[in-house]
Amino acid sequence: MKTANTLSRNDLCWCGSGKKYKKCHLGQQPKQVASPPQKQQPAKRNIILKNAEQIEGIRKSCQLTKNLLDMVEERIKEGVKTNEIDEWVHKETLANGAVPAPLNYGRGQGRRRMPFPKSICSSLNNVICHGIPNDKALQNGDIVNIDVTCDLNGYFGDASRMFIIGEVPDKTRKLVEVTRECLELGIAQVRPANSLGDIGHAIQQHAEKNCFSVVRDFAGHGVGIEFHEAPQVLHYGQPGTGETLRENMIFTIEPMINVGSYDCKILGDGWTAVTVDGELSAQWEHTLLVTESGVEVLTA
Ligand code: MF3
Ligand code: CO
Ligand code: CO
Repeated sequence: MKTANTLSRNDLCWCGSGKKYKKCHLGQQPKQVASPPQKQQPAKRNIILKNAEQIEGIRKSCQLTKNLLDMVEERIKEGVKTNEIDEWVHKETLANGAVPAPLNYGRGQGRRRMPFPKSICSSLNNVICHGIPNDKALQNGDIVNIDVTCDLNGYFGDASRMFIIGEVPDKTRKLVEVTRECLELGIAQVRPANSLGDIGHAIQQHAEKNCFSVVRDFAGHGVGIEFHEAPQVLHYGQPGTGETLRENMIFTIEPMINVGSYDCKILGDGWTAVTVDGELSAQWEHTLLVTESGVEVLTA
C-alpha cells in the first residue's frame, strides 16, 4: 500500500474531505511562512491485536492463499497469459467459499482512481507491484510476481511469490533470490519486543550489500480483519526504532527490491507501479503472526 508520508497532489486530502490534496489543504497553505508547516499526516489508526477466534479465521484464509499460490506454481509457464492466471485464482477462490480481495478494491474510497479490476496482481519485469493481469503471454526470460489475497469469512490472507519463466541471466536470478532472502531475514526479526525497524534494517542491509535498492513508496501492512491495517511495515530503517512487536499482531512483510534505483512511478491506469529507470524489480510476501516465542508464517 502507499505510505502515509508520500501524499502527493492528486491523492485524497488527509483531512477526510474527499477532495484531492491539491484542491484542499495544499491550496490552503499560506504561500509564505517563516518555517514550513508541519507535514500533515492521515489520522493514525490503531494496531489490532487479534484474539484466538480471529487468528483461527485468518490462519484458514492464509492457508487458502498459500494453496492458490501452489496451484499457480504448478501451472505457470511460458505462453500462459496473466489473465488466465487471474481466472484460475478467481475460480478456485470462489470454489473455496472465499472472495478475491483485490477485485474492486478501492471502490468507494473516493474517485481518485478506478477500483482494481482483477482478482490478482501480476507484476512483470520492471513492474514493482499492483500490475493488472492482461492478455499478453509470458515469455522466456520474464520474471513475474503473482500476489494473491483471500477474504474468507471476513478474514484476510495476503502472499506473493516470484516466478522465473524459462532461462534468465544470472543477475536476474540473483535479484529474485536476494529478494526472497530479504523476506526471510525480515521474518527472522519477528518476535515480541523486537521493533519494526529491526525488520526494515535486516532487509535493507541484505539488499544493499548485494547492490540492489529497496523500494520506499510501498510497505508491508497489518492484515487480517481488513486488507490493509496499521501498522505500515517499511522495508528499510534503523534497528530499535518504530513500533514494538507484540504477541498476536498480524502483518505482512513484502519487500520490493530493484536492480537500479528505487524510484517508482504509477502508470495511467492508476495502479501499475513501475521502476522509473526501467530496470527489473522483484517481490516476495508472507503474512506473519507474532507468537509468544517468535513468529508463525501463516501463508507458508
Ligand atoms: N496484495 C497487495 C498487497 O500486498 C495489495 C494489492 S491492492 C490491489 O498489499 F488492489 F492492487 F489489489
Ligand atoms: Co500485502
Ligand atoms: Co499482497
